[in-house]
Amino acid sequence: MRTLWQHCHVATMAGGRYSVIEDAAIVTSAGLIEWIGPRDDVPPVAADRIVDLGGAWVTPGLIDCHTHAVFGGNRSGEFEQRLQGVSYAETAAQGGGIASTVRATRAASEDELFASARQRVQALMRDGLTCIEIKSGYGLDLACERKMLRVARRLGEELPISVRTTCLAAHALPPEYAGRADDYISHICEQMLPVLAAEGLVDAVDAFCEHLAFSPAQVERVFIKAHELGLPVKLHAEQLSSLHGSSLAARYQALSADHLEFMTEEDAIAMAKAGTVAVLLPGAFYFLRETQLPPMDALRRHGVKIALATDLNPGTSPGLSLRLMLNMGCTLFRMTPEEALAGVTLHAATALGMGDSHGSLEEGKVADFIAWQIDRPADLAYWLGGELPKRVVRLGHEISN
Ligand code: NIG
Ligand code: FE
Repeated sequence: MRTLWQHCHVATMAGGRYSVIEDAAIVTSAGLIEWIGPRDDVPPVAADRIVDLGGAWVTPGLIDCHTHAVFGGNRSGEFEQRLQGVSYAETAAQGGGIASTVRATRAASEDELFASARQRVQALMRDGLTCIEIKSGYGLDLACERKMLRVARRLGEELPISVRTTCLAAHALPPEYAGRADDYISHICEQMLPVLAAEGLVDAVDAFCEHLAFSPAQVERVFIKAHELGLPVKLHAEQLSSLHGSSLAARYQALSADHLEFMTEEDAIAMAKAGTVAVLLPGAFYFLRETQLPPMDALRRHGVKIALATDLNPGTSPGLSLRLMLNMGCTLFRMTPEEALAGVTLHAATALGMGDSHGSLEEGKVADFIAWQIDRPADLAYWLGGELPKRVVRLGHEISN
């Protein structure tokens, strides 16, 4: 079915930057964009259907490129403790933090995890998401990491959204390996990754490089194994301190390095050279009341692509709105609304290795787009959450949301 969508303006993100066509038209067919341009130039194609978008602003479907959407329980108790002055690192050292979510996730059935994650992903979808990355990392043993990744895959099968899975087995040390971090890394490399990859459950491999998690040397072993298995890597880096994990990620051509508040200019140079995307997570920055800002000037000066994501997780960013992150990226990190929008479309796609097919509206790319009833694209970053009127098109078909 060939559809002509017209009476709209489009923030196309074509050519690798924020770019706009006013009074535009889009022709879609077989799930792809066949043609896009000014309405006056529409080629004489035989459309099966013509859709009037009522003057909407069209953007690519939003992409949340960093989430931990599958988990058991929640950590609102720790939130209360932190408000009393207990730090994230102190909570972790006392056996809370990630370890407490690991206990709850191990105890939950696959169906229970699916039901709770589905609600969270549906909440995110109300912001116009058509693609989401979901990490494991609260199982920390083969069976439970598999359970999480299977839930992530099933979300992509049962909801109208594309799901990319990331294996984050190197997220924290499971209790059964206490004091034996190197042995756990060996277990990840020799058992978990090869098995989970062979089962088709892993699109990328991530790790948490931090004093309270894994050292650069341990992360590097995971990266080497990932590459052996033909899998791209990503990294939680420089969130709480500077270990130059982002430079390490760049050396392994990582798709992205994420968080980055404590990164240095040298890290930015390495990332720019490797094409590694900087994924900024203002929800975690806000929720932990962090004060160290990511080095925006250095990132811009060296031409590092900047993406924004929710980091949806129970400990540091229980964020159910990607549009709220647009606002926070602008307000807290001084991004422009245009940079923020590119960060949840164009650069988010690159951070998932999907830049050739997603993230901008260009001929040959997938027909995933949102027609927003707003006056200006900046309105997307302006409102503090809430639901904006819109129509969601995925693979060339309008879906209800
Ligand atoms: O991205 N930084 C590590 N991982 C998560 C937090 C996980 C948790 O506390 O449950 C993050 O912020
Ligand atoms: Fe994270």
